[in-house]
Amino acid sequence: MVESIHARTRDHRERALRSAGWNPCLLRSEDVYIDLFTDSGTNAMSDRQWSALMRGDEAYAGAQSFYVFEQAVRTHYGYEHVIPVHQGRGGENILSRCLIRPGTHIPGNMYFPSTRAHQELNGATFHDVIVDEAHDADGEHPFKGNVDLAKLRAVITEHGAAAIPYVSLAATVNMAGGQPISIANLTETCDLAHASGIPVFLDTARAVENAWFVKQREPGWAHRSIADILLALCAPTDGAVMSAKKDCLANIGGWIALRDRDLAEQARGLVLLYEGLHTYGGMAGRDMEAIAQGIAESVTEQHIRARIAQVEYLGHRLDTAGVPIVHPIGGHCVCIDATAVLAHLPRTALPGQTLAAAVYLEGGVRGVERGTVSAGRDPATGENRYPSLEFLRLALPRRVYTQSHIDHVADTVIRVHRRRDRITRGLTFTYEPPHLRFFQARFAPTEGTSIYGS
Ligand code: F0G
Repeated sequence: MVESIHARTRDHRERALRSAGWNPCLLRSEDVYIDLFTDSGTNAMSDRQWSALMRGDEAYAGAQSFYVFEQAVRTHYGYEHVIPVHQGRGGENILSRCLIRPGTHIPGNMYFPSTRAHQELNGATFHDVIVDEAHDADGEHPFKGNVDLAKLRAVITEHGAAAIPYVSLAATVNMAGGQPISIANLTETCDLAHASGIPVFLDTARAVENAWFVKQREPGWAHRSIADILLALCAPTDGAVMSAKKDCLANIGGWIALRDRDLAEQARGLVLLYEGLHTYGGMAGRDMEAIAQGIAESVTEQHIRARIAQVEYLGHRLDTAGVPIVHPIGGHCVCIDATAVLAHLPRTALPGQTLAAAVYLEGGVRGVERGTVSAGRDPATGENRYPSLEFLRLALPRRVYTQSHIDHVADTVIRVHRRRDRITRGLTFTYEPPHLRFFQARFAPTEGTSIYGS
């Protein structure tokens, strides 16, 4: 689908950002020139996906489109029970409600805001057991999404297996900058958890991108197909939660995929309450057709090679200009280290959010803060959490932008970086919602009326 975009004037952008409370998420998309807020649901669908949409069977129960969808998930992800949900967080809600009891503990390879929010709402405490390298923006570790097995063992020893409903893994790890987990590490993690009777669930939102990195970087996988590697990533786990808005090249949708029949029955029961019937889960029949076709396209080498190459291109342009970014360059995004760019601002002045505002003002490019604002408050203490990584994430929608769009993004960021000393003030909250605050929060400059000033 071709959509028109508009370059607004700087004055227009200033007015738009002010009325959006300095939060790019609250901008109207018509005021955004290049939209890198997310790669979620922003993909361009193919001719085959659009024609698959026309085949949508909109029967309330047992639609043919459900069986097409179920078969595609079974074939490519390898799980027996496939339960549709309207998007990833719908699945997170259901899985958390099925398995978590108050006072329990969930280890995982770094948090994701909506995943942890559902775990905490159900009374669990999340424990980050990712390798230390993931918290260092600069290091070149090929699998920064790996679990530190000693950290996982320590959580199991401290809290006991009975208090750990499951291990929550992601491939790739979004909040580390789209970093992959290796198949060897994922398998060892599952072995360790299973030895204590703890199941492992995988967030497969970007597992195809993870498979690409395995093929490039993990010994023994170079000659295997992306489809084979995807199956190998899922094989040792007990189930998955999926946002089909990412890898699957669709605009909406998701699923929970499970091996255990009883858990699947329990999940279907809750899907009925929160999502829709267990054969549509909040999606239209046509959405399920588009996803099934998107899955088949997503595992082609031609697609995934071009997708990752575009992200790398942006990363290399910023690297060459000396802009500090997270290394290695991730699967779905380039992340700019806001604490390095705006080293003169304290963390309390929200450098990631401030950089997001500056990049929008400069070139109409919308990214998202991934730092203090996204991390929210500790539910136990009410204090702000200050994660080790504080960045501006530029996430690339799949099959949407051309190289000249990406060049505009690079030129914009490079200009902001060169003139970073002119950003003398950060931002402070004027409205702070209780959950996933980065979406709806409003801000104001810490002093005066602008982030620029003497
Ligand atoms: N898991 C991961 C790893 C995600 O990146 C997301 C969404 C979700 C779960 C939730 O899925 O949006 O379909 O409900 N990530 C988007 C992002 C919003 O911009 O990173 P959802």
